[in-house]
Amino acid sequence: ETDMRADLEKVLIPEEELQDKIRELAAQIDADYAGREILLVGVLKGAVMVMADLARALHAPISMDWMAVSSYGSGTQSSGVVRILKDLDADIMGRHVLIVEDIIDSGLTLHWLMSNLESRGPASLEVCTLLRKPDAAKIEVDVKYVGFDIPNEFVIGYGLDYDERYRNLPFVGTLAPHVYGGSGEQEG
Ligand code: PRP
Ligand code: MN
Ligand code: MG
Repeated sequence: ETDMRADLEKVLIPEEELQDKIRELAAQIDADYAGREILLVGVLKGAVMVMADLARALHAPISMDWMAVSSYGSGTQSSGVVRILKDLDADIMGRHVLIVEDIIDSGLTLHWLMSNLESRGPASLEVCTLLRKPDAAKIEVDVKYVGFDIPNEFVIGYGLDYDERYRNLPFVGTLAPHVYGGSGEQEG
């Protein structure tokens, strides 16, 4: 297919709504962290778009770091067993760390990541996610900043992939079932 939009079922959150929400989250974060410098930790690769737009919407000085983790091992179901593929460059001891995610699905990746980062002694640790699927949660995670709670549908775009594609759509949409087989499980 030469136009990935042919694989869409529908647009769930249009570009303007995403950008409005990110400005709203940034204003809230600026107010909450007044006087404290934030270290944004983006979780590769899904968080790249949120990270780039959130960082530019913040007025406070920030630093950025990145982690890459693999949560699904060899199986297709989320196992909660997480491997670090790329660790942070810097020590976070005493820093105000804000994890930036595109989506919380089962919550297993973030649950593991939070306890891993907490053990490194940050001054504070919070999470900002653009999307969350309450009906898919397998574990509760304390998330301070949430853009949108969405239904348990397979979503793509704005960083979210199916088989590494569709991350560059500027909006969040659902994938037509004929493309992914229609199981409804968000994987990959
Ligand atoms: C996706 C998403 C979150 C995670 C959420 O990443 O970006 O990081 O899954 O799932 P969970 O709440 O069920 O743990 P993925 O592992 O697909 O890697 P990617 O960001 O490179 O696409
Ligand atoms: Mn991810
Ligand atoms: Mg993915």
